[in-house]
Amino acid sequence: MKSVFACQSCGAQAPKWLGRCSDCGAWNSFVEETVEKPGKATERRSAAEPLGGGKATRYADVDAVVSTRFSSGISEFDRVLGGGIVPGSLVLLGGEPGIGKSTLLLQAAAAFARDTGPVLYASGEESEHQVKMRGERLGVGDAPLFLLAETCIERILEEVDRVRPALVIVDSIQTVFSLKMASAPGSVGQVRQAATDLLFTAKGRNLPVFVVGHVTKDGSLAGPKVLEHVVDTVLYFEGDRHHAHRVVRAVKNRFGAISELGVFEMTGQGLQAVLNPSAMFLAERPENVPGSAVLCCLEGSRPILVEVQALVGTSTLGNARRTVSGLDPTRLSLLLAVLDKRAGLNLATDDVYVNVAGGMTVDEPAADLAILAAVASSLRNRPLHPNTVVFGEVGLAGEVRATSQAPLRLREAAQLGFTRCVVPDGNATAGDGPKGMEVVGVRTIGEALDALM
Ligand code: TYD
Ligand code: MG
Repeated sequence: MKSVFACQSCGAQAPKWLGRCSDCGAWNSFVEETVEKPGKATERRSAAEPLGGGKATRYADVDAVVSTRFSSGISEFDRVLGGGIVPGSLVLLGGEPGIGKSTLLLQAAAAFARDTGPVLYASGEESEHQVKMRGERLGVGDAPLFLLAETCIERILEEVDRVRPALVIVDSIQTVFSLKMASAPGSVGQVRQAATDLLFTAKGRNLPVFVVGHVTKDGSLAGPKVLEHVVDTVLYFEGDRHHAHRVVRAVKNRFGAISELGVFEMTGQGLQAVLNPSAMFLAERPENVPGSAVLCCLEGSRPILVEVQALVGTSTLGNARRTVSGLDPTRLSLLLAVLDKRAGLNLATDDVYVNVAGGMTVDEPAADLAILAAVASSLRNRPLHPNTVVFGEVGLAGEVRATSQAPLRLREAAQLGFTRCVVPDGNATAGDGPKGMEVVGVRTIGEALDALM
């Protein structure tokens, strides 16, 4: 049997071991794998059959199938999926250990089994008893949910043949192995093989399949990147284990918008959908305290209000510290430089701590103005105007640039009872705010700070 060395992070292959992958640059990522002889052309063709049939079709002759979506029984989960579960789709749910992937899928499985049809839940990580114990807590009841503690993909597919479920869940792809490969479960070859087998099953039977994927410490999916290319939808489960709320985010979706967001709260009875995340993120906001600004950020098509907090203090050490959580640290450095140069607020000898309350992560440039406002407010030790929301991108010249979807953001702020909004001038003139909302347009960060303090 021939063997090759495969990079476990990108799937690149080399005839001998390498310390560093020449493709993706990962260190120490090569593992020896045995290769099967590539099948004959006919075999390969039959494996690919479900996707096409081998003949090209005129665009006009292709039927536009409007596939009906099934509800997963959890509204927030349906939203991330782009409106429900598409038949024949292969969905990957990634996330750190203990974040709640198995819990969410078990809840969805139970609801789906109750409303739509039988579900096969194949778990390679927990025994049937363990899954049942969790299920009792989640109130699965007597829905037609079939549990299978199995890691061999061929056996799982046999059970799919036997049970004929309407939904298959495989928890997790890293524990599954195929008899066709000799390498260990979780290795690049095994993961790819299992994913491909599941893909053909999904497409061939028009059966939705969910797979769980583990995430490594640096936040990328363990195993090959190819996994993300194989599946139709990639969802990431994010959140801080120290906070109760969890966020499910779509980063790839062949059937819907990406960067849609579902917000959940982990409770004693499993994950509960949070229908009004803004209210949750602002629940513990202190009033009239310096260094706190309310930002309206946009996640996918969903506006969410979060609190940006800053603390500026004299540095006791030689070099000032910048500590950020929930935001991009380089963005903060840039904004502090702008604040220094364009607004005359010098922070070179001060420690600056910035935090998005509630463990939320914001990566939108529209957060710039809120960050600056929070930092300036803490530096001057003066609270911002109460009941004020702020958003806007800041450029290097200290100008405030318009952001997308301003009316949506303003509406969300009005719904939560905010009466004043400091926004980029471009947004203030283009769209008028909701009733009872004072919209203040600003052109520079100087104007913004005047309007806010
Ligand atoms: P789990 O779904 O096992 O995580 P993953 O599959 O992503 O590794 O989530 C487990 C965590 O969730 C565990 O730490 C306990 C907590 N939990 C609750 O708080 N309430 C519940 O009802 C359940 C089922 C789990
Ligand atoms: Mg799990």
